[in-house]
Amino acid sequence: MQEMSSLPDGYNALLIGASGGIGSAMRKLLEEDRRCRELVALSRKHDGLDITEENSVAMHSEKLLNKNFHLLICATGALTIDGIGPEKALKQFDPNAMAAQFRLNAIGPALVMKHFLPLLDRKTHAISAFLSARVGSIGDNRLGGWISYRSSKAALNQIIRTASIELRRTHPKAILVGIHPGTVETDLSEPFSRGHDRMPPLGAASRMLKTLDLVTSDQSGSFIAYDGSSIEW
Ligand SMILES: NC(=O)c1ccc[n+]([C@@H]2O[C@H](COP(=O)([O-])OP(=O)(O)OC[C@H]3O[C@@H](n4cnc5c(N)ncnc54)[C@H](OP(=O)(O)O)[C@@H]3O)[C@@H](O)[C@H]2O)c1
Repeated sequence: MQEMSSLPDGYNALLIGASGGIGSAMRKLLEEDRRCRELVALSRKHDGLDITEENSVAMHSEKLLNKNFHLLICATGALTIDGIGPEKALKQFDPNAMAAQFRLNAIGPALVMKHFLPLLDRKTHAISAFLSARVGSIGDNRLGGWISYRSSKAALNQIIRTASIELRRTHPKAILVGIHPGTVETDLSEPFSRGHDRMPPLGAASRMLKTLDLVTSDQSGSFIAYDGSSIEW
């Protein structure tokens, strides 16, 4: 975290999805960062924050109304829901499974944006990032498959882009990006990672935090990877 430079000393961070593989690593690094004055780390498992339920999201955000955050990270998401993993082919397509992917990976983060982005500091450089996935890129899709997860992340990317434009009006110095963490050793990727190099969660989280600290206003509304490179929509 020493290379971080644009977040102010004494910054306040809000982490949603702090119980996941990547979220836990983010939590550890933020707890260790001496410049972080306050970390609010929320999860479904430990705090009952279910991002698919608006009442739950609203209730948790209302408890934080007196706070100003300089960093907001949403590390929630799933590739397998209720035992149903990504489809290899259209014949496996199940509309209910796709709806569940959209509910968690796209609509949930939109609810988080609706209720938590207003808590970003209005006066200073504030950074918000939502965990997306490179497979959500339409232009980069050369393999096919995983139609529900891919399209839920593509929807998330559009939600990020749209919300970033509105955010600029209320929070002129704030930044909102979608970020791909790389292929990371977590429960989410475990069943599908044979033959793929995977990064340890702490390594991926550390690279993302460094990248996020360096993002600039003109990158708001963009889709980037853990190393700061841009990903086509
Ligand atoms: N791992 C990878 O290789 C990889 C690659 C590309 C993109 N990503 C993205 O990175 C993000 C994090 O993935 P991960 O690998 O850390 O997965 P993970 O270890 O399975 O963690 C998933 C997190 O999502 C939370 N979550 C699931 N449903 C929720 C709900 N309804 N309400 C609130 N929280 C909920 C879980 O909370 P509880 O445990 O508290 O229920 C957990 O904190 C996801 O968006 C994923 O798509 C991961």
